[in-house]
Amino acid sequence: MDDLLEPGILKGVSTRTLDKLLKAGYITLKSVAVTPAKEISERAEVGMDTALKVTMLARAKVDPGYIPALEILERRTHMLKCTTGSSSLDAILGGGVETGAITEFIGEFGSGKTQICYTMSVMAQRPVDEQGLDGNVCVIDTEGTFLPERIMQIAQTRGYDPRKILEKILVARAFNSDHQIILIDNLPEICQTENVKLAIVDSMIGHFRGEYVGRGTLAERQQKLGRCLHSLLRLAEAFNLAVIVTNQVMSTPDVNYGDPNRPTGGHVMAHACTHRVYLRKGRENTRLARVIDSPSLPEVKTRFAITEEGVVYAEL
Ligand code: GTP
Ligand code: MG
Repeated sequence: MDDLLEPGILKGVSTRTLDKLLKAGYITLKSVAVTPAKEISERAEVGMDTALKVTMLARAKVDPGYIPALEILERRTHMLKCTTGSSSLDAILGGGVETGAITEFIGEFGSGKTQICYTMSVMAQRPVDEQGLDGNVCVIDTEGTFLPERIMQIAQTRGYDPRKILEKILVARAFNSDHQIILIDNLPEICQTENVKLAIVDSMIGHFRGEYVGRGTLAERQQKLGRCLHSLLRLAEAFNLAVIVTNQVMSTPDVNYGDPNRPTGGHVMAHACTHRVYLRKGRENTRLARVIDSPSLPEVKTRFAITEEGVVYAEL
């Protein structure tokens, strides 16, 4: 586990500053080290000089700068993969949704994004040797569609005590994009205290799309969205947890052939998310999933089904 931000750990930093950092949600040395000084200054309400000092000290403690590639390899061995509940979907993800990264599920309404989130909220609680993450789950629900009854059904049909499962899923409803930002900013604290191993934002972009309409607002929207996504990525890295975000599609009428739908959120979304998975409706209760952008996964397609067990295997 990461070193906690305790008195004396950063030489020359006053307990008052330390208190401010803790109150702002910076609980571990690493969370300070990986955050830009400007952001520390704003969120913890400390001067820029102090912020620069604490980030430099924290970085020196946790990260000596260059490290041997062998050590990166070693760090990656701590990466865990969480099953989605569907072995076919797991297969195209290289075994499941990985920790230390953001995995984005993109698709039109009814394509299965929320069902994947529900199923994973159950699966992430399983022990690591059963393809879980052995931890609790945190959900930011931006659409007000979170249905505990559906999670109970998924848990029950998979043989778990539904009430125990629900107890370990912490849900916050984000009422608008600013509220969503606050909730994301609060994640480091809650993830630390509640042993959260899977954080879900469903959907990442809905509020932003609804609130920032018109060309003049696009830059601000993208900047805020980018900041949120970077916070999530840092969270994933600092706590070695899995982050899932969902995204919608918009139709681009200028496409003459193929699928006219494109993920929303533009380049900001495309670059910040580590793995992108595109979902489409298939025959009956099945859905098609394709990896569309990933540094480590090939762009392959698969099929999964949505049943009372949540998302499950289906033959391609
Ligand atoms: P939006 O949030 O509207 O963008 O869509 P989404 O991609 O989140 O869709 P979601 O994951 O909610 O998928 C909805 C689909 O899942 C429905 O059309 C149903 O086909 C299926 N589904 C939802 N609940 C159940 C259920 O209890 N049992 C079964 N068998 N299927 C369900
Ligand atoms: Mg949904």
